[in-house]
Amino acid sequence: MTDIVNSVGQILITEEEIKARVTEIGERISRDYADKEPLIVAVLSGSFIFASDLVRALSIPVDISFIYASSYGDSSESSGQVDIKTGKGGLNAEGRDIIIVEDIVDTGRTLSAVKQFLFDKGANSVEICTFLDKPSRRIVPIEAKYMCFDIPNEFVVGYGLDYAYKYRQLPFVGILKPEIYEK
Ligand code: XMP
Ligand code: MG
Repeated sequence: MTDIVNSVGQILITEEEIKARVTEIGERISRDYADKEPLIVAVLSGSFIFASDLVRALSIPVDISFIYASSYGDSSESSGQVDIKTGKGGLNAEGRDIIIVEDIVDTGRTLSAVKQFLFDKGANSVEICTFLDKPSRRIVPIEAKYMCFDIPNEFVVGYGLDYAYKYRQLPFVGILKPEIYEK
């Protein structure tokens, strides 16, 4: 059987680095929102591992909701159009202080659409907490108040991020061997 770790050419961020940083960001959010009871909105699918670790690093009460955001276009470059879906019953954002939890900000298109969507639904405030940021790729100006790691312009997998729906379960962030992408 193929071991998925064998497909990884380089580890960019280790499991230990992730744990330490997520704990730190969790403590910051807990301090900043001490009197607010924010609503965490995790953007699926990519953020599911980050969101689950992040909420366990929070010491304040929070509500947790999920939305699906996907942009039309090919898999490695998002287009301008973002499709946003909420679960059954919708999402009650009215008057809430929301923290969007995302796996990665790339062009910024997805998050700017999600942010607008939440304001349209009556949110009181919307901040962004992203696991990764590729600032060199930004097209739409958007800034995350909380960010775990800045990365160079490389396609990465692991800790929720996929390549062709795989590798999400890797406990670290890595770059696949070139032959995997060329397949
Ligand atoms: P935008 O460009 O809208 O896109 O900020 C954010 C979405 O693009 C995907 N993305 C990646 N996915 N490895 C991935 O697995 C990457 O290196 C990467 N860069 C961008 C991702 O779906 C994210 O939500
Ligand atoms: Mg994503």
